[in-house]
Amino acid sequence: MNRHLSRTDNLIHQFDTVLRSLVPHAAQASRPSPATADVQDAPMSEEERRHAAGLMRINHTGEVCAQALYQGQGLTAKLPEVRGQMEEAAQEEIDHLAWCDERLEELHDRTSVLNPLFYAASFGIGAVAGAVGDRVSLGFVAATEEQVGRHLEDHLVRLPPGDQRSRAVLRQMAIDEAHHAQLALEAGGARFPVPVKFGMKLMSKVMTTSVYRL
Ligand SMILES: [Fe+2]
Ligand SMILES: [Fe+2]
Repeated sequence: MNRHLSRTDNLIHQFDTVLRSLVPHAAQASRPSPATADVQDAPMSEEERRHAAGLMRINHTGEVCAQALYQGQGLTAKLPEVRGQMEEAAQEEIDHLAWCDERLEELHDRTSVLNPLFYAASFGIGAVAGAVGDRVSLGFVAATEEQVGRHLEDHLVRLPPGDQRSRAVLRQMAIDEAHHAQLALEAGGARFPVPVKFGMKLMSKVMTTSVYRL
């Protein structure tokens, strides 16, 4: 009976994570957004606003993928020593998700309609990598975080000059992602060979190109 209950609890918890990631405004940040009241934007044209929203939509979907990746990994990986740390990282990803969501709302724009699709794909990848083994799964987290870090640097340059509030969010995210990558590597994550990294780059290209508009 107890075993049955805990399995039900677990199922509810998993389902809750899916909903929090996919339903707009459902994610609750544990830290306040770095775009505090004293961070002010300069005026932006309509075209600049749309461009900023496109970039922030990409970052939001990236965080949806991060939730799915950590969730998939959590289900299949053993992670005897670092499970707690990985859960902490996943909590920081919820902050990122909520901050990007808030910022999109400030920009009078919306999250991507493709999020369920990318959630499912990332969940599958996380679960498969976790089942293959912890070294692969942690290596995947590290490689993903490094790639996200490069995207963030790129977006910090490409955002409209007036958009200081998005910048404040992305700067803190970049600090957190670098920390997540380092944690995963220190926990024994494998360094991936170039062809795998190339495949990941290709997938991220598909995501960023489609989500910028959709
Ligand atoms: Fe993140
Ligand atoms: Fe991260």
